[in-house]
Amino acid sequence: MHNPQLNKNGELTHLLTIEGLPRAVVTQILDTASSFVGISDREVKKVPLMRGKSVFNLFFENSTRTRTTFEIASKRLSADVINLNISASSASKGESLLDTIDNLAAMHADMFVVRHAQSGAPYLIAKHLTDTGRSHVHVVNAGDGRHAHPTQGLLDMYTIRHYKKDFSNLTVAIVGDILHSRVARSDIHALTTLGVPEVRAIGPRTLLPSGLEQLGVRVFTDMREGLKDVDVIIMLRLQNERMSGALLPSAQEYFKSYGLTTERLALAKPDAIVMHPGPMNRGVEIESAVADGAQAVILPQVTFGIAVRMAVMSIIAGN
Ligand code: CP
Repeated sequence: MHNPQLNKNGELTHLLTIEGLPRAVVTQILDTASSFVGISDREVKKVPLMRGKSVFNLFFENSTRTRTTFEIASKRLSADVINLNISASSASKGESLLDTIDNLAAMHADMFVVRHAQSGAPYLIAKHLTDTGRSHVHVVNAGDGRHAHPTQGLLDMYTIRHYKKDFSNLTVAIVGDILHSRVARSDIHALTTLGVPEVRAIGPRTLLPSGLEQLGVRVFTDMREGLKDVDVIIMLRLQNERMSGALLPSAQEYFKSYGLTTERLALAKPDAIVMHPGPMNRGVEIESAVADGAQAVILPQVTFGIAVRMAVMSIIAGN
């Protein structure tokens, strides 16, 4: 089946999801990101790879890390970056998503970075641009509903490779609200694409989607069993805004069973790393002593996100 994010030469022209991306493309992004990591230490923190290009940040949903690091990444690539203030835009007056896109494309946009509460919104935009003869305008998914958050998945892979060097002998546990998590889905696709032999999902039954086993994931409802001897722990936030109805007794009860405490972390390998995409709820999914502890790599994840987003944008713009 045709992958809408690749051109006829198999090169990335949009980034919509990690699902179905060839391993070579994922590795190309991680390798390119490596070449950008050192740029922050240089006196001039810029390269001219996207000079003269206009990147429009369209965040229809709140964001701290993704929006800001896309802006920094665009500036480091020498692009002009425009942050549309959605609440002050005509979207708040009832303008349709595609009418907004048409108007911004008329301002000679070269790339849209899109976050939207509706799964599939970035696909819709990419298809609309292609159908209307503007396939030279690129779309990067910055998180759509509960579907995908591909640049988060890629920066998570970058972080794992940085600390663990090799994917081929790792056990990685993803813990928490997997049902509503676009990060979990992107991480699972990325980890299996990169050949991680054991990917675990740990959470209460009400927050575990069906079909995980078909994706090659081992499912655990007991935190102690699931954490045993893992190399990497990816903690997730309870996505209360995406839950309909009560799926949990309370945040306190959740922490008792699934919170990552120092005691539970000791079940993992001694050199295990702790990751979290943010935003983090201390005392709900993670204890502060763990979040701020020596095994946490949560802030390096954010820093690596700049290089990974530079890599994604420069590769796509070059294709
Ligand atoms: N990880 C992540 O997507 O965080 P933000 O919502 O702050 O962008």
